[in-house]
Amino acid sequence: MKEAIEQLLAQVASLKATNAKEVEEARVRLLGKKGEITKLFEEFRSCGPELKREFGKKLNELKQAATAKIDELKNMTEATSVADSPKQDLSMPGTPFALGSRHPVSIVRQEIVDIFRKFGYDVAEGPEIEDDYHVFEALNFPPNHPARDMQDTFFVSTGHPNPLLLRTHTSSVQVRSMETMKLPIRVICPGRVFRNEAISARAHCIFHQVEGLYIDENVTFADLKQAILLFAREMFGPDTAIRMRPSYFPFTEPSSEVDVSCNICHGKGCNICKGTGWLEILGCGMVDPNVLEASGIDSKKYSGFAFGMGLERIAMLKWQVNDLRHYFENDLRFLSQFKTATEV
Ligand code: DAH
Repeated sequence: MKEAIEQLLAQVASLKATNAKEVEEARVRLLGKKGEITKLFEEFRSCGPELKREFGKKLNELKQAATAKIDELKNMTEATSVADSPKQDLSMPGTPFALGSRHPVSIVRQEIVDIFRKFGYDVAEGPEIEDDYHVFEALNFPPNHPARDMQDTFFVSTGHPNPLLLRTHTSSVQVRSMETMKLPIRVICPGRVFRNEAISARAHCIFHQVEGLYIDENVTFADLKQAILLFAREMFGPDTAIRMRPSYFPFTEPSSEVDVSCNICHGKGCNICKGTGWLEILGCGMVDPNVLEASGIDSKKYSGFAFGMGLERIAMLKWQVNDLRHYFENDLRFLSQFKTATEV
């Protein structure tokens, strides 16, 4: 009997169960009507008084230990099954999160990228902290050009022959593309640009541009005009007309500024087009041979066109936003008005 009690004590001490069913099985095996401990008690009843004195205490201890262990296992398995069970009805409809909307500048950038992707253009990006060479020198800016001036450019380091600065236009990515891509090149470069301007309704120190570049053999001004016309019609509607005015940029020759017909008054004259019927949207031109040569492209064999436009400006025309500062102030009353076609 002594051995049986000790064996059972050891069994009780090492008893384990992972669920309620296993606990119940253990209880029946040990303490049930035909359980092993119950049987020992029956045996005990027919023992002589001496043995009773010897084993009575031990047997009671065994029963208490078994009962305590079973209770402990019961509590444990109940606790885990409560934690596992769902606290709420998961089949109920959820509470939807309010979806944010995309920023108007992001929407316009995506539209422009999508249009030029259809024409076979790749997308390229470049660093926002650039050097003087990629922003100015390789783009044929004369050494004393006012755009290099402290008034326009945020310099990161000065006193160096090729100082670091925040790029003032994405035309720097045009240079990086010519340096690294194989000809022919057809690329657009969206990105953020920085100018040291006083912030007002019409100017900001941060804004966004998309630069475009196409270089191949025999590219002409007619190709440029066609590309811009197709873009303008995709962007502003199939009836859009364009007007090219002569202009000057150091990196293009000839250069031009492009207006689109006002899609609000259709040429009658309104306050958005200031009564002219035309809205200026971009600058462009034929890449200056000096710019091609600076990046190691043979200007006798290759020619190309480039263009650049401001995303805030295009978004202003598209949604008639009258103050540039709205784009940067993160006012939800402003931002939540813009939905793309798929979100409406
Ligand atoms: N980089 C010019 C700017 O920041 C925009 C521009 C004009 C880009 C004409 C061009 C271009 O590539 O051909 O104002």
